[in-house]
Amino acid sequence: MTQPDSPSLGRFADLPRVRHGHLPTAIEEMPNLAKALMPEGGPRLLVKRDDCTGAGFGGNKVRQLEFYLGAAVEAGADTVLITSAVQSNFMRTCAAMCARLGLKAHLQMEERVAKNNPLYRSNGNVLLDKIVGAELHTFPEGEDEAAADRALEDLADRVRTQGGRPYVIHLSPAYPPVGAVGYVECARELLAQLAERGETVDRIFVGSGSSATHTGLLWGLRALGSEIRVTGVCVRRDATQQHARVTANLANLSAHLAHQPEFSDDDVETTDISFGTGYGRMNEQTREAIALAGRCEGLFVDPVYTGKVLAGMIAILRAGEMAEGETALFLHTGGAPALFAYGDEVLEEA
Ligand SMILES: Cc1ncc(COP(=O)(O)O)c(C=O)c1O
Repeated sequence: MTQPDSPSLGRFADLPRVRHGHLPTAIEEMPNLAKALMPEGGPRLLVKRDDCTGAGFGGNKVRQLEFYLGAAVEAGADTVLITSAVQSNFMRTCAAMCARLGLKAHLQMEERVAKNNPLYRSNGNVLLDKIVGAELHTFPEGEDEAAADRALEDLADRVRTQGGRPYVIHLSPAYPPVGAVGYVECARELLAQLAERGETVDRIFVGSGSSATHTGLLWGLRALGSEIRVTGVCVRRDATQQHARVTANLANLSAHLAHQPEFSDDDVETTDISFGTGYGRMNEQTREAIALAGRCEGLFVDPVYTGKVLAGMIAILRAGEMAEGETALFLHTGGAPALFAYGDEVLEEA
């Protein structure tokens, strides 16, 4: 389960891991989108297809869960507990990977989004959670991460009382950033792919929510000596709050991996240009990004995460922040199952 030691990534190679991801993920061109956005010419657009990581309909959470579930298996757990929004991709992927590992999954569904229609409550990720046999719990709070973690610990106590061996995937940054390590691996993978292709990327656009993806990617790039600019597009909180979260998580990750890469003052970059009115709330920019991705490139992005990230990238390109001759990379982190839960809002005419 371990790899040869990799000194520049600290303890990375010693961490337990299960291998469920279909890796490396492909890097593709998006020429039609580039043309539609910048008919007079502009930067080259690439997409890294982390929506196609394989396990449980794929997405970024597969890379993160490889490390969480590696730790769960190593600890001898038979049950995994996780907390997130009702339409969480993290919980769906976790439940699917647990099914494959023969682990029971408990999903704690937080009320983060005021959507009460049947699509939101039972289609999309919720349908998939049920298909893979997860046990669902409700939690009325959507914004109190510490309370959500405490409630999970209570559930874990109940599992213990019934003779089970629980492993808890915590939400708040008070716990080690186990999942972010999956994106350290992604940074390594990306740099190897670019080296093999003889190409460079100037700027990466990535969703920034719990920040495990953003933090791990940035940490990994800098630890490996790359200066590629990373723009975290906010999906959960505003740019100032998210900046503080990523900064704190970088330090947590350095402690977790026992290695301290060098960061410059402007390495942590967050934008809420496409965030709109809150987590999981659709907005016009996102609706446009969903349609453009589909119609130009046959790609599915979602209303909660990747649609907002692509919308942010589009706004930045339209503002002329990148020049012809440069290359932008959209890290497609998945999330398409939520399209079915937001079917009433995805299309203009819906
Ligand atoms: C599809 C998708 N993209 C991006 C993110 C944000 O990733 P992170 O929580 O690692 O910041 C999530 C989080 O759930 C997600 O499901």
